[in-house]
Amino acid sequence: MTEELISIRNLRKVYELGGETVTALDGISIDIHQGDFVSIIGPSGSGKSTFMNMIGCLDRPDEGSYTLDGEEVEGMKSNQLAAIRNEKIGFIFQSFNLLPKLTAEENVELPLIYRGMPRKERKEAAAAALDKVGLAERSHHLPNQLSGGQQQRVAIARALAGNPPILLADEPTGALDSHTSKEILEMISELNAQGQTIVLITHDLDVARKAKRVVSIQDGKLSENGGDWLADHSNGPKKYQRK
Ligand SMILES: Nc1ncnc2c1ncn2[C@@H]1O[C@H](COP(=O)(O)OP(=O)(O)OP(=O)(O)O)[C@@H](O)[C@H]1O
Ligand SMILES: [Mg+2]
Repeated sequence: MTEELISIRNLRKVYELGGETVTALDGISIDIHQGDFVSIIGPSGSGKSTFMNMIGCLDRPDEGSYTLDGEEVEGMKSNQLAAIRNEKIGFIFQSFNLLPKLTAEENVELPLIYRGMPRKERKEAAAAALDKVGLAERSHHLPNQLSGGQQQRVAIARALAGNPPILLADEPTGALDSHTSKEILEMISELNAQGQTIVLITHDLDVARKAKRVVSIQDGKLSENGGDWLADHSNGPKKYQRK
């Protein structure tokens, strides 16, 4: 039996804006196990980012339950959410989100500083993470002295440095050319092969297919029919249209 890292039941999120309500998440349930590599695919506006914000403890649902690595997240206060986020989740974003005035190594150290890790241990963890993504030689470069692919690798090192049980990637290759995208996806797959649990959010079918398990989200509802969805939507430009 594999260990359940994420257990989500009937998650709902409704936005109200100018008198109108949008049901961004409409009763989502999912279990994600240790060692899984899940991609969540869906068209624009389907609720992917809203869902990522919930999984990543960046926002709270209106209804439903969320257990993350044995801890009940719903009902946590913001400081508790920040702490669990730092400990449990490594984030990778489309736009890398590196701080421009910090070196690669300092960027990687940042979440470890928030965690209160002592300096020596922090330096070692950052160096090891940069080494793991093949950037040991670039640790003193600033982000603008690195290529896009290298910047994303620094972001991956930052996500990995604190050994979080889950890596959560939102369109990690969205800002990269196809060759570099391939390298980054290979790196992500390799991390999964080493046991890292990965949740990857994308609207790109080719990216989603790299995962072991593809689930789709449409109109705020999730289904385990990623395969069917891919089959239905893989014939030409209609694939991004909403039904
Ligand atoms: N802060 C907000 N206030 C009001 N409505 C919102 C807010 N955030 C998202 N929505 C609405 O909720 C729905 C889901 O949005 P979400 O950003 O999760 O979609 P998405 O799948 O990430 O889309 P994309 O692929 O374009 O990034 C959309 O209809 C959106 O307009
Ligand atoms: Mg989005």
